[in-house]
Amino acid sequence: MGNVVQIADLAKFEGQDVTVRGWLYNRTDKGKLQFLLVRDGTGIAQCVAFQKELPAEMFEAARTLPQESSLILSGSVRADKRAPGYPGGYEIGIKELKVVQVAEAYPITPKEHGVEFLMDHRHLWVRSLRQWAILRIRATIIRAVRNWLDDHGYLLVDTPIISPAAGESTSELFEISYFDDKAYLAQTGQLYNEANIAAFGKVYCFGPTFRAEKSKTRRHLTEFWMVEPEMAFFSLEDMMDMEQEFISYIVQCVLEKHKMELGILERDTTHLQRVTAPFPRISYDEAVERLNKLSAEQTDPEQAQLLRIDWGNDFGSPHETALTQQFEKPVFVYHYPSAVKAFYMQPVEGRPEVCRSVDLLAPEGYGEITGGSERIYDAELIEKRVAQIGITRENYAWYLDLRRYGSVPHAGFGLGVERTVAWICGLPHIRETIPYPRMLKRLYP
Ligand code: 4AD
Ligand code: MG
Repeated sequence: MGNVVQIADLAKFEGQDVTVRGWLYNRTDKGKLQFLLVRDGTGIAQCVAFQKELPAEMFEAARTLPQESSLILSGSVRADKRAPGYPGGYEIGIKELKVVQVAEAYPITPKEHGVEFLMDHRHLWVRSLRQWAILRIRATIIRAVRNWLDDHGYLLVDTPIISPAAGESTSELFEISYFDDKAYLAQTGQLYNEANIAAFGKVYCFGPTFRAEKSKTRRHLTEFWMVEPEMAFFSLEDMMDMEQEFISYIVQCVLEKHKMELGILERDTTHLQRVTAPFPRISYDEAVERLNKLSAEQTDPEQAQLLRIDWGNDFGSPHETALTQQFEKPVFVYHYPSAVKAFYMQPVEGRPEVCRSVDLLAPEGYGEITGGSERIYDAELIEKRVAQIGITRENYAWYLDLRRYGSVPHAGFGLGVERTVAWICGLPHIRETIPYPRMLKRLYP
Protein backbone atom coordinates (compact mmCIF):
# COMPACT_ATOMS: atom_id res chain seq x y z
CA MET A 1 0.00 0.00 0.00
CA GLY A 2 1.52 3.30 -1.06
CA ASN A 3 0.57 6.71 0.25
CA VAL A 4 -2.85 8.08 -0.66
CA VAL A 5 -2.35 10.47 -3.60
CA GLN A 6 -4.54 12.54 -5.86
CA ILE A 7 -5.03 11.53 -9.46
CA ALA A 8 -4.17 15.09 -10.53
CA ASP A 9 -0.69 14.51 -9.08
CA LEU A 10 0.04 11.03 -10.49
CA ALA A 11 2.92 12.31 -12.63
CA LYS A 12 4.87 13.05 -9.45
CA PHE A 13 4.73 9.40 -8.42
CA GLU A 14 5.96 7.63 -11.53
CA GLY A 15 7.49 4.32 -10.60
CA GLN A 16 6.10 4.41 -7.07
CA ASP A 17 3.32 2.55 -5.33
CA VAL A 18 0.35 4.72 -4.48
CA THR A 19 -3.18 4.43 -3.12
CA VAL A 20 -6.13 6.09 -4.82
CA ARG A 21 -9.60 6.44 -3.33
CA GLY A 22 -12.58 7.14 -5.52
CA TRP A 23 -15.33 5.89 -7.76
CA LEU A 24 -15.51 3.73 -10.84
CA TYR A 25 -16.29 5.93 -13.84
CA ASN A 26 -16.16 3.35 -16.59
CA ARG A 27 -14.70 -0.07 -17.36
CA THR A 28 -13.45 -1.86 -20.44
CA ASP A 29 -13.47 -5.64 -20.27
CA LYS A 30 -10.59 -7.28 -22.17
CA GLY A 31 -10.87 -10.70 -20.51
CA LYS A 32 -7.70 -11.14 -18.49
CA LEU A 33 -7.23 -7.39 -18.46
CA GLN A 34 -9.76 -5.03 -16.94
CA PHE A 35 -9.30 -1.34 -17.64
CA LEU A 36 -10.95 0.68 -14.89
CA LEU A 37 -11.40 4.41 -15.27
CA VAL A 38 -11.35 5.70 -11.72
CA ARG A 39 -12.23 9.22 -10.58
CA ASP A 40 -11.22 10.70 -7.27
CA GLY A 41 -12.54 14.23 -7.66
CA THR A 42 -9.22 15.64 -8.85
CA GLY A 43 -9.02 13.66 -12.07
CA ILE A 44 -9.65 10.38 -13.84
CA ALA A 45 -7.02 7.68 -14.19
CA GLN A 46 -6.85 4.40 -16.02
CA CYS A 47 -6.18 1.58 -13.56
CA VAL A 48 -5.37 -1.83 -14.96
CA ALA A 49 -6.30 -5.08 -13.29
CA PHE A 50 -4.29 -8.02 -14.67
CA GLN A 51 -5.68 -11.43 -13.78
CA LYS A 52 -2.24 -12.96 -13.13
CA GLU A 53 -1.23 -10.25 -10.70
CA LEU A 54 -4.26 -10.19 -8.46
CA PRO A 55 -5.91 -12.57 -5.99
CA ALA A 56 -8.92 -14.17 -7.70
CA GLU A 57 -11.57 -12.40 -5.64
CA MET A 58 -9.99 -8.99 -6.30
CA PHE A 59 -9.83 -9.60 -10.02
CA GLU A 60 -13.43 -10.79 -9.96
CA ALA A 61 -14.43 -7.58 -8.18
CA ALA A 62 -12.62 -5.54 -10.84
CA ARG A 63 -14.38 -7.50 -13.60
CA THR A 64 -17.91 -7.06 -12.23
CA LEU A 65 -17.87 -3.76 -10.40
CA PRO A 66 -20.78 -1.53 -11.51
CA GLN A 67 -20.32 2.10 -12.53
CA GLU A 68 -19.97 4.57 -9.61
CA SER A 69 -19.05 1.91 -7.06
CA SER A 70 -16.69 3.37 -4.47
CA LEU A 71 -13.28 1.83 -4.05
CA ILE A 72 -9.75 2.09 -2.72
CA LEU A 73 -6.95 0.68 -4.82
CA SER A 74 -3.21 0.48 -4.65
CA GLY A 75 -0.67 -0.12 -7.36
CA SER A 76 2.30 1.24 -9.21
CA VAL A 77 2.24 4.35 -11.36
CA ARG A 78 3.64 4.06 -14.86
CA ALA A 79 3.88 6.59 -17.66
CA ASP A 80 2.00 5.66 -20.81
CA LYS A 81 1.23 8.34 -23.38
CA ARG A 82 -1.82 6.41 -24.54
CA ALA A 83 -3.36 6.10 -21.08
CA PRO A 84 -6.71 7.89 -21.19
CA GLY A 85 -7.88 10.04 -18.34
CA TYR A 86 -7.64 13.55 -16.95
CA PRO A 87 -4.92 14.65 -16.96
CA GLY A 88 -4.04 11.21 -18.45
CA GLY A 89 -0.67 9.90 -19.59
CA TYR A 90 -0.18 7.77 -16.46
CA GLU A 91 -1.82 4.57 -15.39
CA ILE A 92 -1.87 2.47 -12.28
CA GLY A 93 -1.13 -1.25 -12.34
CA ILE A 94 -3.47 -2.50 -9.64
CA LYS A 95 -1.93 -4.58 -6.84
CA GLU A 96 -4.76 -4.39 -4.39
CA LEU A 97 -8.43 -3.50 -4.73
CA LYS A 98 -10.89 -2.87 -1.94
CA VAL A 99 -14.53 -2.21 -2.76
CA VAL A 100 -16.15 0.26 -0.37
CA GLN A 101 -19.67 -0.01 -1.75
CA VAL A 102 -21.09 -1.81 -4.75
CA ALA A 103 -23.27 0.79 -6.44
CA GLU A 104 -26.82 0.03 -7.56
CA ALA A 105 -27.59 0.41 -11.26
CA TYR A 106 -26.57 4.02 -11.93
CA PRO A 107 -29.27 6.12 -13.57
CA ILE A 108 -26.88 8.25 -15.63
CA THR A 109 -25.31 6.05 -18.26
CA PRO A 110 -23.14 7.04 -21.21
CA LYS A 111 -26.26 7.08 -23.40
CA GLU A 112 -27.99 10.39 -24.09
CA HIS A 113 -30.38 11.68 -21.45
CA GLY A 114 -32.87 14.53 -21.69
CA VAL A 115 -32.05 17.74 -19.86
CA GLU A 116 -35.00 17.45 -17.47
CA PHE A 117 -33.92 13.95 -16.49
CA LEU A 118 -30.39 15.17 -15.86
CA MET A 119 -31.65 18.18 -13.89
CA ASP A 120 -33.75 15.84 -11.72
CA HIS A 121 -30.56 13.91 -11.07
CA ARG A 122 -28.35 16.93 -10.61
CA HIS A 123 -27.04 15.44 -7.34
CA LEU A 124 -25.50 12.66 -9.46
CA TRP A 125 -24.98 14.61 -12.66
CA VAL A 126 -22.31 16.78 -10.98
CA ARG A 127 -20.07 13.69 -11.17
CA SER A 128 -20.13 13.67 -14.97
CA LEU A 129 -17.10 14.87 -16.85
CA ARG A 130 -18.55 18.03 -18.41
CA GLN A 131 -20.20 19.12 -15.19
CA TRP A 132 -17.00 18.42 -13.31
CA ALA A 133 -15.09 20.64 -15.76
CA ILE A 134 -17.63 23.49 -15.56
CA LEU A 135 -17.79 23.57 -11.78
CA ARG A 136 -14.02 23.52 -11.47
CA ILE A 137 -13.81 26.52 -13.80
CA ARG A 138 -16.53 28.22 -11.76
CA ALA A 139 -14.41 27.85 -8.62
CA THR A 140 -11.43 29.42 -10.39
CA ILE A 141 -13.55 32.33 -11.61
CA ILE A 142 -14.70 32.99 -8.05
CA ARG A 143 -11.15 32.76 -6.80
CA ALA A 144 -9.91 35.13 -9.53
CA VAL A 145 -12.64 37.62 -8.63
CA ARG A 146 -11.59 37.63 -5.00
CA ASN A 147 -7.86 37.70 -5.73
CA TRP A 148 -8.08 40.64 -8.10
CA LEU A 149 -10.23 42.72 -5.78
CA ASP A 150 -8.26 41.82 -2.65
CA ASP A 151 -5.02 42.75 -4.44
CA HIS A 152 -6.33 46.08 -5.72
CA GLY A 153 -7.43 47.68 -2.49
CA TYR A 154 -11.05 46.54 -2.38
CA LEU A 155 -12.26 45.43 1.03
CA LEU A 156 -14.72 42.56 1.30
CA VAL A 157 -17.66 43.85 3.36
CA ASP A 158 -20.57 41.43 3.61
CA THR A 159 -24.08 42.72 3.10
CA PRO A 160 -27.30 41.19 4.48
CA ILE A 161 -29.39 38.62 2.65
CA ILE A 162 -32.50 39.38 4.67
CA SER A 163 -33.54 42.88 3.69
CA PRO A 164 -36.32 45.18 4.84
CA ALA A 165 -36.87 46.62 1.35
CA ALA A 166 -36.18 46.24 -2.36
CA GLY A 167 -32.73 47.06 -3.74
CA GLU A 168 -33.52 47.02 -7.45
CA SER A 169 -37.07 46.55 -8.64
CA THR A 170 -40.02 45.71 -6.42
CA SER A 171 -41.48 43.31 -8.97
CA GLU A 172 -38.81 40.67 -8.50
CA LEU A 173 -38.77 40.22 -4.74
CA PHE A 174 -38.97 37.00 -2.78
CA GLU A 175 -40.96 37.78 0.33
CA ILE A 176 -40.29 35.95 3.58
CA SER A 177 -41.97 36.26 6.93
CA TYR A 178 -39.68 37.75 9.52
CA PHE A 179 -41.36 37.12 12.87
CA ASP A 180 -44.21 39.64 12.82
CA ASP A 181 -42.82 41.53 9.83
CA LYS A 182 -42.30 41.04 6.14
CA ALA A 183 -38.80 40.88 4.73
CA TYR A 184 -37.23 40.11 1.38
CA LEU A 185 -34.30 38.11 0.09
CA ALA A 186 -31.55 40.39 -1.17
CA GLN A 187 -31.61 41.33 -4.87
CA THR A 188 -28.37 43.23 -4.48
CA GLY A 189 -25.97 44.35 -1.80
CA GLN A 190 -25.41 47.64 -3.55
CA LEU A 191 -27.27 50.00 -1.24
CA TYR A 192 -25.28 48.71 1.73
CA ASN A 193 -22.09 48.95 -0.34
CA GLU A 194 -22.88 52.63 -0.76
CA ALA A 195 -22.85 52.99 3.01
CA ASN A 196 -19.65 50.96 3.28
CA ILE A 197 -17.59 53.05 0.83
CA ALA A 198 -17.77 55.99 3.23
CA ALA A 199 -16.08 53.76 5.80
CA PHE A 200 -13.64 51.88 3.54
CA GLY A 201 -13.28 53.67 0.18
CA LYS A 202 -13.38 50.72 -2.20
CA VAL A 203 -15.44 47.70 -1.17
CA TYR A 204 -17.13 44.64 -2.57
CA CYS A 205 -19.76 42.21 -1.49
CA PHE A 206 -20.07 38.74 -2.91
CA GLY A 207 -22.97 36.50 -2.23
CA PRO A 208 -26.13 34.81 -3.37
CA THR A 209 -28.74 37.09 -4.87
CA PHE A 210 -32.42 36.39 -5.31
CA ARG A 211 -34.81 37.50 -8.02
CA ALA A 212 -38.33 36.24 -8.44
CA GLU A 213 -37.87 36.38 -12.21
CA LYS A 214 -40.84 34.91 -13.97
CA SER A 215 -38.78 34.76 -17.15
CA LYS A 216 -37.85 31.36 -18.46
CA THR A 217 -34.75 32.30 -20.41
CA ARG A 218 -31.37 30.70 -20.79
CA ARG A 219 -29.84 33.61 -18.86
CA HIS A 220 -31.99 33.86 -15.74
CA LEU A 221 -31.80 32.09 -12.42
CA THR A 222 -33.88 32.94 -9.36
CA GLU A 223 -30.81 32.43 -7.16
CA PHE A 224 -27.46 33.51 -8.52
CA TRP A 225 -24.12 34.76 -7.25
CA MET A 226 -23.14 38.33 -7.79
CA VAL A 227 -19.97 40.21 -6.93
CA GLU A 228 -20.54 43.92 -6.47
CA PRO A 229 -17.63 46.34 -6.25
CA GLU A 230 -18.44 49.91 -5.18
CA MET A 231 -15.97 52.78 -5.27
CA ALA A 232 -15.97 56.23 -3.70
CA PHE A 233 -14.82 59.09 -5.98
CA PHE A 234 -15.14 56.93 -9.12
CA SER A 235 -16.60 58.17 -12.38
CA LEU A 236 -18.20 55.92 -14.99
CA GLU A 237 -14.97 56.11 -17.00
CA ASP A 238 -12.86 55.14 -13.98
CA MET A 239 -15.15 52.19 -13.50
CA MET A 240 -14.89 51.01 -17.11
CA ASP A 241 -11.10 51.23 -16.81
CA MET A 242 -11.27 49.05 -13.72
CA GLU A 243 -13.82 46.58 -15.13
CA GLN A 244 -11.80 45.81 -18.22
CA GLU A 245 -8.72 44.97 -16.15
CA PHE A 246 -10.79 42.90 -13.74
CA ILE A 247 -12.62 40.89 -16.42
CA SER A 248 -9.45 40.32 -18.45
CA TYR A 249 -7.70 38.97 -15.38
CA ILE A 250 -10.52 36.52 -14.69
CA VAL A 251 -10.52 35.21 -18.26
CA GLN A 252 -6.73 34.91 -18.41
CA CYS A 253 -6.69 32.99 -15.09
CA VAL A 254 -9.12 30.43 -16.52
CA LEU A 255 -7.13 30.09 -19.75
CA GLU A 256 -3.95 29.54 -17.80
CA LYS A 257 -5.29 27.06 -15.29
CA HIS A 258 -7.93 25.12 -17.19
CA LYS A 259 -6.65 23.97 -20.59
CA MET A 260 -7.82 20.47 -19.68
CA GLU A 261 -11.33 21.51 -18.62
CA LEU A 262 -11.77 23.83 -21.61
CA GLY A 263 -10.68 20.90 -23.76
CA ILE A 264 -13.31 18.65 -22.16
CA LEU A 265 -15.90 21.33 -22.99
CA GLU A 266 -14.50 21.63 -26.53
CA ARG A 267 -14.34 25.36 -25.98
CA ASP A 268 -12.78 27.29 -28.86
CA THR A 269 -10.63 29.75 -26.94
CA THR A 270 -9.67 32.15 -29.74
CA HIS A 271 -12.21 34.72 -28.54
CA LEU A 272 -11.16 34.32 -24.93
CA GLN A 273 -7.52 34.93 -25.77
CA ARG A 274 -8.46 38.34 -27.13
CA VAL A 275 -10.00 39.41 -23.84
CA THR A 276 -7.44 42.02 -22.81
CA ALA A 277 -7.89 45.68 -21.94
CA PRO A 278 -9.04 48.02 -23.43
CA PHE A 279 -12.57 47.03 -24.40
CA PRO A 280 -14.58 49.01 -26.96
CA ARG A 281 -17.14 51.50 -25.55
CA ILE A 282 -20.28 52.63 -27.33
CA SER A 283 -23.19 54.74 -26.15
CA TYR A 284 -26.74 53.46 -26.01
CA ASP A 285 -27.54 55.90 -28.84
CA GLU A 286 -24.89 54.34 -31.03
CA ALA A 287 -26.04 50.84 -30.12
CA VAL A 288 -29.58 51.71 -31.21
CA GLU A 289 -28.27 53.09 -34.50
CA ARG A 290 -26.20 49.97 -35.11
CA LEU A 291 -29.17 47.72 -34.41
CA ASN A 292 -31.54 49.60 -36.67
CA LYS A 293 -28.95 49.62 -39.43
CA LEU A 294 -28.53 45.88 -38.99
CA SER A 295 -32.29 45.48 -39.00
CA ALA A 296 -32.56 47.42 -42.28
CA GLU A 297 -29.97 45.12 -43.84
CA GLN A 298 -31.91 41.94 -43.08
CA THR A 299 -33.59 40.13 -45.94
CA ASP A 300 -35.77 38.09 -43.60
CA PRO A 301 -38.57 40.38 -42.30
CA GLU A 302 -38.88 38.40 -39.09
CA GLN A 303 -35.20 38.87 -38.36
CA ALA A 304 -35.48 42.57 -39.22
CA GLN A 305 -38.36 42.95 -36.77
CA LEU A 306 -36.41 41.17 -34.04
CA LEU A 307 -33.47 43.58 -34.31
CA ARG A 308 -35.40 46.81 -34.75
CA ILE A 309 -35.50 48.97 -31.64
CA ASP A 310 -37.15 52.27 -30.77
CA TRP A 311 -35.00 54.67 -28.81
CA GLY A 312 -35.94 54.38 -25.14
CA ASN A 313 -36.50 50.65 -24.99
CA ASP A 314 -34.25 48.27 -23.14
CA PHE A 315 -32.35 45.69 -25.16
CA GLY A 316 -33.69 42.20 -25.38
CA SER A 317 -31.50 39.20 -25.75
CA PRO A 318 -31.58 39.25 -29.63
CA HIS A 319 -30.35 42.87 -29.54
CA GLU A 320 -27.49 42.09 -27.18
CA THR A 321 -26.54 39.02 -29.18
CA ALA A 322 -26.42 40.97 -32.44
CA LEU A 323 -24.44 43.81 -30.88
CA THR A 324 -21.78 41.60 -29.39
CA GLN A 325 -21.32 39.85 -32.71
CA GLN A 326 -20.03 43.14 -34.08
CA PHE A 327 -17.10 43.14 -31.66
CA GLU A 328 -14.28 40.74 -30.96
CA LYS A 329 -14.04 41.69 -27.31
CA PRO A 330 -16.54 42.40 -24.57
CA VAL A 331 -18.18 45.76 -25.30
CA PHE A 332 -19.32 48.47 -22.89
CA VAL A 333 -22.67 50.11 -23.63
CA TYR A 334 -23.10 53.30 -21.60
CA HIS A 335 -25.72 56.03 -21.01
CA TYR A 336 -28.93 54.02 -21.17
CA PRO A 337 -32.30 55.75 -20.95
CA SER A 338 -33.01 56.58 -17.32
CA ALA A 339 -36.50 55.12 -17.66
CA VAL A 340 -35.23 51.56 -18.13
CA LYS A 341 -32.69 51.72 -15.33
CA ALA A 342 -32.80 51.85 -11.54
CA PHE A 343 -33.81 54.89 -9.48
CA TYR A 344 -30.36 55.53 -8.04
CA MET A 345 -28.53 56.16 -11.32
CA GLN A 346 -26.98 59.58 -11.90
CA PRO A 347 -28.56 61.49 -14.83
CA VAL A 348 -26.22 62.69 -17.55
CA GLU A 349 -25.42 66.39 -17.16
CA GLY A 350 -27.72 68.41 -19.46
CA ARG A 351 -29.47 65.27 -20.72
CA PRO A 352 -31.47 63.75 -17.86
CA GLU A 353 -33.32 61.30 -20.11
CA VAL A 354 -30.17 59.17 -20.10
CA CYS A 355 -28.11 58.07 -17.12
CA ARG A 356 -24.50 57.38 -16.20
CA SER A 357 -24.94 53.63 -16.47
CA VAL A 358 -22.87 50.98 -18.18
CA ASP A 359 -23.48 47.35 -19.04
CA LEU A 360 -20.72 45.06 -20.24
CA LEU A 361 -21.83 42.70 -22.99
CA ALA A 362 -19.80 39.52 -23.50
CA PRO A 363 -18.91 38.48 -27.05
CA GLU A 364 -20.13 35.51 -29.09
CA GLY A 365 -23.72 36.44 -28.35
CA TYR A 366 -23.50 36.09 -24.55
CA GLY A 367 -24.67 39.60 -23.74
CA GLU A 368 -24.87 41.38 -20.39
CA ILE A 369 -22.55 40.08 -17.72
CA THR A 370 -22.17 43.24 -15.67
CA GLY A 371 -24.46 46.17 -14.94
CA GLY A 372 -23.52 49.29 -13.08
CA SER A 373 -23.60 53.06 -12.85
CA GLU A 374 -22.60 56.25 -11.17
CA ARG A 375 -24.98 56.81 -8.29
CA ILE A 376 -26.95 59.93 -7.52
CA TYR A 377 -25.11 61.61 -4.67
CA ASP A 378 -27.11 64.80 -4.40
CA ALA A 379 -29.47 64.66 -1.39
CA GLU A 380 -32.37 66.49 -3.04
CA LEU A 381 -32.27 64.52 -6.25
CA ILE A 382 -32.17 61.14 -4.54
CA GLU A 383 -35.12 62.19 -2.33
CA LYS A 384 -37.03 63.09 -5.47
CA ARG A 385 -36.28 59.76 -7.15
CA VAL A 386 -37.30 57.79 -4.08
CA ALA A 387 -40.58 59.72 -3.96
CA GLN A 388 -41.15 59.20 -7.71
CA ILE A 389 -40.91 55.43 -7.64
CA GLY A 390 -43.23 55.29 -4.66
CA ILE A 391 -41.16 53.21 -2.29
CA THR A 392 -41.65 53.68 1.43
CA ARG A 393 -39.31 56.45 2.46
CA GLU A 394 -38.84 55.23 6.00
CA ASN A 395 -37.32 51.97 4.73
CA TYR A 396 -34.73 54.00 2.86
CA ALA A 397 -34.06 56.65 5.49
CA TRP A 398 -30.64 55.17 6.20
CA TYR A 399 -29.80 55.22 2.48
CA LEU A 400 -30.84 58.85 2.21
CA ASP A 401 -28.67 59.65 5.23
CA LEU A 402 -25.63 58.75 3.15
CA ARG A 403 -26.28 61.84 1.03
CA ARG A 404 -26.27 64.03 4.15
CA TYR A 405 -22.99 63.07 5.76
CA GLY A 406 -20.10 63.48 3.36
CA SER A 407 -21.73 62.44 0.10
CA VAL A 408 -19.29 61.91 -2.79
CA PRO A 409 -19.55 60.93 -6.45
CA HIS A 410 -19.33 57.17 -6.58
CA ALA A 411 -19.94 54.23 -8.83
CA GLY A 412 -20.28 50.48 -8.75
CA PHE A 413 -21.43 47.46 -10.66
CA GLY A 414 -22.52 43.87 -10.31
CA LEU A 415 -21.00 40.89 -12.12
CA GLY A 416 -23.16 37.79 -12.44
CA VAL A 417 -21.00 34.75 -11.77
CA GLU A 418 -23.18 32.30 -13.67
CA ARG A 419 -23.37 34.38 -16.83
CA THR A 420 -19.61 34.75 -16.68
CA VAL A 421 -19.19 31.00 -16.31
CA ALA A 422 -21.58 30.36 -19.22
CA TRP A 423 -19.62 32.72 -21.43
CA ILE A 424 -16.14 31.50 -20.52
CA CYS A 425 -17.17 27.84 -20.77
CA GLY A 426 -19.14 28.47 -23.98
CA LEU A 427 -22.42 27.07 -22.62
CA PRO A 428 -25.75 27.79 -24.29
CA HIS A 429 -27.70 27.76 -20.99
CA ILE A 430 -26.99 29.09 -17.51
CA ARG A 431 -28.44 26.05 -15.70
CA GLU A 432 -25.17 24.09 -15.76
CA THR A 433 -23.07 26.92 -14.35
CA ILE A 434 -24.20 26.56 -10.72
CA PRO A 435 -24.16 23.32 -8.75
CA TYR A 436 -27.88 23.35 -7.87
CA PRO A 437 -29.79 25.77 -10.10
CA ARG A 438 -32.95 27.51 -8.95
CA MET A 439 -35.26 28.57 -11.73
CA LEU A 440 -38.92 29.29 -12.28
CA LYS A 441 -39.68 25.59 -12.61
CA ARG A 442 -36.74 24.09 -10.77
CA LEU A 443 -36.42 23.72 -7.02
CA TYR A 444 -35.23 20.09 -6.83
CA PRO A 445 -32.81 18.63 -5.86
O1 4AD B 1 -27.84 44.57 -13.79
P1 4AD B 1 -28.19 44.08 -12.41
O2 4AD B 1 -29.60 43.88 -12.08
O3 4AD B 1 -27.49 45.12 -11.42
C1 4AD B 1 -27.65 45.20 -10.09
O4 4AD B 1 -28.25 44.43 -9.40
C2 4AD B 1 -26.88 46.33 -9.48
N1 4AD B 1 -27.43 46.61 -8.14
C3 4AD B 1 -25.44 45.94 -9.38
C4 4AD B 1 -24.60 47.04 -8.85
O5 4AD B 1 -24.51 48.07 -9.47
N2 4AD B 1 -24.00 46.84 -7.71
O6 4AD B 1 -27.41 42.72 -12.14
C5 4AD B 1 -26.02 42.65 -12.28
C6 4AD B 1 -25.62 41.37 -12.99
C7 4AD B 1 -26.14 41.27 -14.42
O7 4AD B 1 -25.32 41.94 -15.31
C8 4AD B 1 -26.11 39.77 -14.63
O8 4AD B 1 -24.81 39.32 -14.94
C9 4AD B 1 -26.47 39.24 -13.26
O9 4AD B 1 -26.16 40.24 -12.32
N3 4AD B 1 -27.88 38.88 -13.16
C10 4AD B 1 -28.37 37.63 -13.23
N4 4AD B 1 -27.76 36.45 -13.42
C11 4AD B 1 -28.52 35.35 -13.45
N5 4AD B 1 -29.85 35.35 -13.27
C12 4AD B 1 -30.52 36.51 -13.10
N6 4AD B 1 -31.83 36.49 -12.90
C13 4AD B 1 -29.77 37.72 -13.07
N7 4AD B 1 -30.08 39.03 -12.90
C14 4AD B 1 -28.93 39.71 -12.96
MG1 MG C 1 -28.71 44.77 -15.65
